[in-house]
Amino acid sequence: WLGYHAALPGANDTARKAAPLWSKRVEVQEQHEVMDTALTELSQGLGKLYGVQPEMIKSQTQGSQQNERGPAIRLGTWAGSDFAANVLTDAERAAVHGEGFIIREDESQRELVIGSETPQGILYAVFHLLRELTLKQEGAEAGAAAVAVATESQPERIVINEQPVNSLRMINQWDNVDGSIERGYAGRSIFYENGEFTQDIGRIRDYARLLASTGINAVAINNVNVHRKESLFLTERYLGDVAKVAAAFRAYGIRLFLSANYASPIEVGGLQTADPLDEQVREWWSIQTAKVYAAIPDFGGYLIKADSENRPGPFTYNRDHADGANMLAEALRPFGGLVIWRCFVYNCKQDWRDRSTDRARAAYDHFKPLDGRFADNVILQIKNGPMDFQVREAVSPLFGAMEDTNQIIEFQITQEYTGQQRHLAFLVPQWKEVLDFDTYAKGKGSEIKRIADGSLYQRPYSGFAAVSNIGADACWTGHPLAQANLYGYGRLGWNPDLSAEQIADEWVRLTFGHDEQVVERITGMLLSSLDIYENYTAPLGVGWMVNPDHHYGPNVDGYEYSKWGTYHFADRYGIGVDRTVKSGTGYTSQYHPENAARYESLETCPDELILFFHHVPYTHVLHSGKTVIQHIYDTHFEGVEQAEALAETWRELEGKVDPVIYSKVAELQAEQAEHAKEWRDMINTYFYRKSGIQDEHARKIY
Ligand code: GCU
Repeated sequence: WLGYHAALPGANDTARKAAPLWSKRVEVQEQHEVMDTALTELSQGLGKLYGVQPEMIKSQTQGSQQNERGPAIRLGTWAGSDFAANVLTDAERAAVHGEGFIIREDESQRELVIGSETPQGILYAVFHLLRELTLKQEGAEAGAAAVAVATESQPERIVINEQPVNSLRMINQWDNVDGSIERGYAGRSIFYENGEFTQDIGRIRDYARLLASTGINAVAINNVNVHRKESLFLTERYLGDVAKVAAAFRAYGIRLFLSANYASPIEVGGLQTADPLDEQVREWWSIQTAKVYAAIPDFGGYLIKADSENRPGPFTYNRDHADGANMLAEALRPFGGLVIWRCFVYNCKQDWRDRSTDRARAAYDHFKPLDGRFADNVILQIKNGPMDFQVREAVSPLFGAMEDTNQIIEFQITQEYTGQQRHLAFLVPQWKEVLDFDTYAKGKGSEIKRIADGSLYQRPYSGFAAVSNIGADACWTGHPLAQANLYGYGRLGWNPDLSAEQIADEWVRLTFGHDEQVVERITGMLLSSLDIYENYTAPLGVGWMVNPDHHYGPNVDGYEYSKWGTYHFADRYGIGVDRTVKSGTGYTSQYHPENAARYESLETCPDELILFFHHVPYTHVLHSGKTVIQHIYDTHFEGVEQAEALAETWRELEGKVDPVIYSKVAELQAEQAEHAKEWRDMINTYFYRKSGIQDEHARKIY
């Protein structure tokens, strides 16, 4: 999406003619690493768009009058440059802060001023401008871009004000130092190989560039499951390497975090304990943290998975998670560092015979009682749902339950349960649904996006985190169209009010250009893809039904008798998990009354979550008018047809998109269509055998 497609066949000459007056010269007055990155990006981008690299002028002169100045882009921060100070009014400058920015073209369209409080803001402005210019190129459908750009044919001034809605916009890498990636579907790690950091900092820099262009400002570079060797990242053994990676990200305004092993004092420090209240343990973390900051002065902090899926944590010492997190917070505080503490804590050694334990309840049950006890530099990272990134599950009731605690929402860009980048699943619509969900925590209008952005509870730290989907694959993401998920995540983190349609349209145009057939077909594929995937996989919110461990492909009972707490309870009469207060696990009571009541009652529970909240007979009639069993049959037959249609749609684009991308996607869509049949037949057969109920349409069920 950074190709800046004037480069498209035939577009060049027109595009060049339309080059705005200001595009040939760039003036700047200050020196800053991130500003330098912005200048390089601007120069490259304008060069590609208009065929001419602009002249770059570093000027010292202050106070020049507008009428003395020639046509140019002038950019700078409030403090570092008089362009921003002189040309923009106080009111304009007051309208944005921090990483926010203003881009304004003057009346005569000879000058374009870019201003921000920070160099990071300038970098985001440059990416934004280049994106808008690309979207508005000749041939782009009217209205595709949010801003009008001056060309001879369309003399409209550019006026853009942007402020990121979320302050922390983070990516989590689940990369291991041996070069593998937990839940990675796009090749090996770009960070590590064979127990060492890569020497190819260039690829990391490219990644930083990709991320910054969508607005990402933080990255944790190693797996949340911190194994023996990665525990040494905090030590002299690896700190020099970590610092090099931090430098690559710093140039793009991205702060580096490390996932840390809670038991480091024992495993690395040689202590007997990792008890958070032990003086020696606290001292160990303080000393070690000081060493990290000596190597990386702007280090972001620690990301922690504790007492989760067999990882160590404070429970071992009969302490709670506030004790654990606050100890680390104390070590980080002198340096302005953050503790990001994950809430993915549940009993992973459950007995399937035990019907009273409900994994969905776990995060709320553990963390809600700790509200108000976390230090001010601790942030809880909460997965979007209470289970684990299923194609459909309820939203986590922890959002809206902790008024006095910093929180960020965790999404999974990597498609662990949504087709592993072999099937197409554009996740932005799912994330939008979660973000727009009204928790009613402070009455109507208490959407999750307002908890994530910190505004509902006025929290100092807040935002988004997500598990990355990239690897060393040439196209970064295994499936070329899965790039849209990475792009979309960044854009949503910047502004959760962007629509899935707009994000898809942007990504397709930036990536493939403005051919209307191409744009329409690919956006259509993206926007329908998640519903299609849901149709042929686990029905009605029940989740799972995947092969254990690797999680690819159908296996209805794969997790049914396991210890992980992921059951569907299907028998000859019915299916689903009773999470009601009346007769089930009581999970519904974790929501505020409006939602609790809606989910508790079969009358009001939405169809798509019926099996998440209720155990019902196969003959239960949904709001749609269909029985549960007929819904299962219908969606699975339909899903396969839709998957075939996706493959067919793509085939229409042969010759219209890059041939390498064309073949790769064609191959993957054919595989998806085939594999969807496997899902259909296993699910339909399973439920036909269980229920003994015939398909109303007498289609083939094995
Ligand atoms: C899932 C995933 C694991 C991961 C875990 C987590 O369970 O399968 O690989 O470690 O989530 O988020 O910590």
